[in-house]
Amino acid sequence: MNKLVVISVLFIIVLYLGSCKDEAKKPINPNGDTEISLLMRAMYEEALTARRNIEKGEDFELSLDYKKLLTAKGVMTDKLESPLYKAYAESYIAIAERIKNDLSDNRIEDYKLLVEGCRKCHDVMCQGPLVLVNKLVLKE
Ligand code: HEC
Repeated sequence: MNKLVVISVLFIIVLYLGSCKDEAKKPINPNGDTEISLLMRAMYEEALTARRNIEKGEDFELSLDYKKLLTAKGVMTDKLESPLYKAYAESYIAIAERIKNDLSDNRIEDYKLLVEGCRKCHDVMCQGPLVLVNKLVLKE
């Protein structure tokens, strides 16, 4: 392949990754301390604690107010106000509420759904934080 083509392709990839700020390189805090970024980081910490509990054979709890997903402000206003984001957020809130209220008898399945919820939204909205989402996956 011609060098120019290779360089152009790399340039396009860099542009694509850059479209969600620097998250690919720096998954923590790429967009400053906005309400949504603080919420996301807290969600990550809460899920990580849950994962550690499960791996010790213990139960886990969620205490964050996941409904804030629908109101928290961030730099990507157009994304946060899109119907797609709202749909993913609603489904995430439903899973979190079910876990909080202990409405299911399979906590591990619920935990997996929670992590898949991070993945589904991030696959569409911005891929950078998927590096962190992968750290939440349980080892089988
Ligand atoms: C409903 C969609 C949605 C769900 C569910 C979701 N995220 Fe996010 N997340 C976003 C969007 C959109 C942003 C970018 C927000 C912005 O900065 O404007 C983001 C940003 C982040 C960031 C970067 C925060 C920063 O410091 O700027 C991390 C890390 C993150 N999410 C991790 C997670 C994890 C872990 C989960 C699951 C526990 C999760 N997300 C669930 C949509 C989602």
